[in-house]
Amino acid sequence: MKSVEKARIRDAATIHQLINYFADKGEMLPRALSEIYENIRDYFVIRQGERVIACAALHISWEDLAEIKSAAVAEDSQQQGIGVQLVEACLKEAKELGIPTVFCFTYQPAFFEKCGFCQVDKMELPRKVWGECYLCPKFPDCDEVALVYNLKVEI
Ligand SMILES: CC(C)(COP(=O)(O)OP(=O)(O)OC[C@H]1O[C@@H](n2cnc3c(N)ncnc32)[C@H](O)[C@@H]1OP(=O)(O)O)[C@@H](O)C(=O)NCCC(=O)NCCS
Repeated sequence: MKSVEKARIRDAATIHQLINYFADKGEMLPRALSEIYENIRDYFVIRQGERVIACAALHISWEDLAEIKSAAVAEDSQQQGIGVQLVEACLKEAKELGIPTVFCFTYQPAFFEKCGFCQVDKMELPRKVWGECYLCPKFPDCDEVALVYNLKVEI
């Protein structure tokens, strides 16, 4: 099993390439490099040697809510459990922070269901929809699926 690490600033360009490779194929939403720099502390990565082969971000939305964003595993490293490892790292951090609900918007709901997430109506996540989605070029015709994972946290 490869180890999950917090991203470093020098990883931003590779994270950007990884995400936008899949975004160009319509499999996830693109991210600007500036957005990755601004949110670099959200990102976890997995490396093979010096190369970043996978990333995922945990972004805090509110006191009780966080989002997993931009989960991406290089094609030649998929189907080896790396995606699950990254999602588990995000969930662990949310639990340590005391955040009970983690959600994601994705075109790959079956992968997140394998990780224990359940599909919900997007309107159950109004903070996401009205706080960020309106900036998306696809708004209001979102074709992503919303899922949530509920954690047991100490209050
Ligand atoms: C979706 C993605 C992150 C999964 O990463 P991965 O490392 O290949 O996934 P894992 O090897 O950890 O898979 C864990 C399980 O989920 C399943 N799985 C993986 N991707 C799946 C998918 N797209 N649909 C359904 N099941 C999937 C695997 O078969 C495996 O199941 P198993 O335990 O029964 O064998 C990866 O395919 C990817 O980067 N895709 C392109 C970007 C993308 O779509 N990201 C989605 C989030 S925005």
